[in-house]
Amino acid sequence: MALKGTGIWRRLEAHRDHLAGVHLRTLFADDPDRARRFSHQSGWVHVDYSKHVITDETLALLRELATAQGIEAWRDRMFAGEAINTTEGRAVLHVALRNRSSRPMVVDGRDVMPDVRAALNHIRTFSEAVRSGGWTGYTDQRITDVVNIGIGGSDLGPAMVTAALAPYHRQGPRVHFVSNVDPTHLSRELQRLHPATTLFTVASKTFTTAETMANARAARAWFLAQARDETHIAKHFVALSTNEAEVRRFGIAPEQMFVFWDWVGGRYSLWSSIGLPIALAAGYGRFEMLLDGAHEMDEHFRTAPLADNLPVTLGLLGVWYASVLGLESQAVLPYDQLLARLPAYLQQLAMDSNGKRVTRDGQPVDVGTGPLVWGEPGTNGQHAFYQLLHQGTRLVPCDFLVGAESHYPLGDQHALLVANCLAQSEALAFGRTAEEARAELEAQGLTGDALEALVPHKVFPGNRPSTTILYEKLGPRTLGKLLALYEHKVFVMGAVWGVNSFDQWGVELGKQLATRLRPELDGPAPVTSHDSSTNALINEYKRLRGGSVSGDQGSGNGRR
Ligand code: F6P
Repeated sequence: MALKGTGIWRRLEAHRDHLAGVHLRTLFADDPDRARRFSHQSGWVHVDYSKHVITDETLALLRELATAQGIEAWRDRMFAGEAINTTEGRAVLHVALRNRSSRPMVVDGRDVMPDVRAALNHIRTFSEAVRSGGWTGYTDQRITDVVNIGIGGSDLGPAMVTAALAPYHRQGPRVHFVSNVDPTHLSRELQRLHPATTLFTVASKTFTTAETMANARAARAWFLAQARDETHIAKHFVALSTNEAEVRRFGIAPEQMFVFWDWVGGRYSLWSSIGLPIALAAGYGRFEMLLDGAHEMDEHFRTAPLADNLPVTLGLLGVWYASVLGLESQAVLPYDQLLARLPAYLQQLAMDSNGKRVTRDGQPVDVGTGPLVWGEPGTNGQHAFYQLLHQGTRLVPCDFLVGAESHYPLGDQHALLVANCLAQSEALAFGRTAEEARAELEAQGLTGDALEALVPHKVFPGNRPSTTILYEKLGPRTLGKLLALYEHKVFVMGAVWGVNSFDQWGVELGKQLATRLRPELDGPAPVTSHDSSTNALINEYKRLRGGSVSGDQGSGNGRR
């Protein structure tokens, strides 16, 4: 399904060339109503996309593209439970997990909602028991700490949401997240914990992911070193998974298993049993509010016409940049410390989903697909990488996210945060001309050659695009809506490109090679079975392991 040669694509390219010389300064000067016309407002949020170099024609052309690519039909097929994840023959129905209506959601002719409600009920009863102290450990002590062991979608979503809902962590256990197979991660968490008061949630859709299983086995050994009796495992280990056979094989009984289904993709799974740590930390009621918020966004995405459909608009802007302008990256800049892990979460959501080079039918995509997604919370990023955003040679579209209020008011600090956020998008859009830079330098008393030498360094070209998402004080419902908004944005982009946004074959080769390479790290014998670079790295690893060339002696593992 070539995009490039099509009529609509040629018109988009011509339109892009036409806009090449247009500056946001002019667009705003010519249309006093621009901010209102290029924004989306509903009760909880104000989304401003007026600071993109676009016109009504840009959006009209992009919507024409969306229609030509069958966006609405693909969306409807997703909600109808069709197997749109074609390479795995699976439905894509995370929207069922947060379906708060009485509408059935059907996969293979069967309404999955009774199963979804039963799984939610399991989360509710268990999280309430742990939080109230009704569920105790093997010495009858209350659970004070939960360690979630999982990686990728079984880590990033629940970890990000749990952190974002920190203001609601009252009475609940402390929840820790261990993902990395680097033994440092688990060891450092366990150093602070006691087996008798710690609960492990082993989160893995497949229950075969090497990193998670290695960490889970290590956690079990740590627990049994103290508890001694394997029957105590039942009080301290639960599984969040789709794979009952593997869960049993690990030694967790089915009663200790929180289920979900193959039609829930890993990176879309925080709404499922994978969200148990969220309910443990913030309470089941907050978890339900998160689902409520996501459902509201689902309904908007499902029913709003393309022109008023927020995920569609943001997704089409994403296509505009990644494919029509050929930009490489997209920054996510939450001016909200509670959303510190949002960029990492969105990285997986976007890059696992749309980091694809062939269409569903295996043909090469002839335009750029999923951009690199990266970011840090403001204002930290301002003092790190914004220099490049403002004056570098690359154009990086930015998403600014900011709440209207903080859960933690402290003097005027939140207003200072908001001022910084709004100032950054203003500076990116409008910049500073040479004349303005000159006037400022003159006001500082500079003249002549000294002044002229500085002028080019003080110029900000501006015309750098951004979206600002301004929401009420961050709570579970708002968060649910924001996350569903990004999920559907990613869906729209993938549907325009014709890729399967729901598989991730690209992670397989590295996993296979690691399994093959692992035994070669043992023993002193030099390895010659790979290319010369990999051979040399393995052999140097053997030389450096256990050595003391640098003089950094001692274990240094923090244990006393
Ligand atoms: O690395 C690929 C991947 O399959 C991700 O898509 C997924 O979120 C992660 O691994 C973890 O998988 P699982 O939940 O099966 O352990």
